[in-house]
Amino acid sequence: MSATTLDGLKIRDEIQAELAGEIAALKARGITPGLAAVLVGENPASQIYVRSKVKACESLGLYSEKIERPATMTTVELLAVVETLNQRDKIDGILVQLPLPPQIDTRRILEAVDPTKDVDGFHPTNVGRLVAGRANLVPCTPAGIMEMLRRYQIPIAGARAVVVGRSDIVGKPMALLLLHQHATVTICHSRTRDLPGVAREADILVAAMGRPAFVTGDFIRPGATVIDVGMNRLVSSEEVERAFHDTAEPLRKLESKGSVLIGDVQPEDARDRAGAYTPVPGGVGPLTIAMLMSNTVRAARLRRSK
Ligand code: GUN
Repeated sequence: MSATTLDGLKIRDEIQAELAGEIAALKARGITPGLAAVLVGENPASQIYVRSKVKACESLGLYSEKIERPATMTTVELLAVVETLNQRDKIDGILVQLPLPPQIDTRRILEAVDPTKDVDGFHPTNVGRLVAGRANLVPCTPAGIMEMLRRYQIPIAGARAVVVGRSDIVGKPMALLLLHQHATVTICHSRTRDLPGVAREADILVAAMGRPAFVTGDFIRPGATVIDVGMNRLVSSEEVERAFHDTAEPLRKLESKGSVLIGDVQPEDARDRAGAYTPVPGGVGPLTIAMLMSNTVRAARLRRSK
C-alpha cells in the first residue's frame, strides 16, 4: 500500500484563487489589504521566509512592506517600529519574523502588536480567543493544516489526533483547532512516556517537534493521516545516512545542492504505512504562506467592519 500524497501546492493554489476574488471585491471598495513584514537581523532562513511572504503578497495584488533592522537593535527600538505600524491605516497585517535576536524581549514585542493586525495570531488576545473557540486570527501553519484536512475530506470529528510538539506557534494552536472540530486530542512532547505507543493511537498524527525524521514507522498506525510540519536542513552525508533508508537520491541532492530538506517524519516510512501524508517540501509549507495572505485579507475586513 502506498499513501496518498497531500499536495500543499494544489491546496495553496485553491486558497489563493479564492482569495483573489475576495481581494478584487475589496479593491472595488477602494481597499487594498496591506502587510508589513518585520525582519530583524540576518538569519538566512528568516530572510527566505520573509521574501516568500512579500512575493506572495505581490502576486495576489496585496500591498506589502519589508522592514529590515539590524540584529543589534534594542527591544525599545523594535517596540517603536511596531507602534508606528499599529498606527498606520495602510497596514492591515503586522508580522514580526521569529526568532528575534536574544537581547530582544520577544514576548513584549508580540504583545505590542495591535491584536486586530496580528496576522500571526500570536497576541495573547488572539490566543485567548482561540482557546475560547471565538478566534479571529489563527496562527498560519495550524490554520493551513486544517484547510488541508478539510479539502481532502479527512474526517476529524471523533478521530483520535496526536500532536507531537507543544510550541506556541504550531503544537498548542493545532491541538485546539482539532479539539474544536471534535477530535480526541493528545499533545506529546520530549517527556512523554512511550511516545511511539501514544502516536500509534492516532488517526491523525501531526509531527511538529523540529527533529529530522524522528517519527518513524513504529509511530504510525497503518492508514493514519500523517501531517509533517518539520523543515530540517541536512548538510552532511552522516546526517543524510541517519535520516533516510534509501540514501542514493538524497546523497546526490546533497552533492549538487549542498543540503537536503527533510521533515520530522521519516518519509519512506510514511509512504509505506500512512493512509495519507504531507511531503516535505510541498506539503504544509506552502499553506502557511497562503493562510498568512488569508489572515491579511481577513484583518483588513475585520478592522473596517469595526
Ligand atoms: N518563524 C517560524 N515560523 C513563523 C511564523 O509562522 N511566523 C513568524 N512571524 N515567524 C516564524
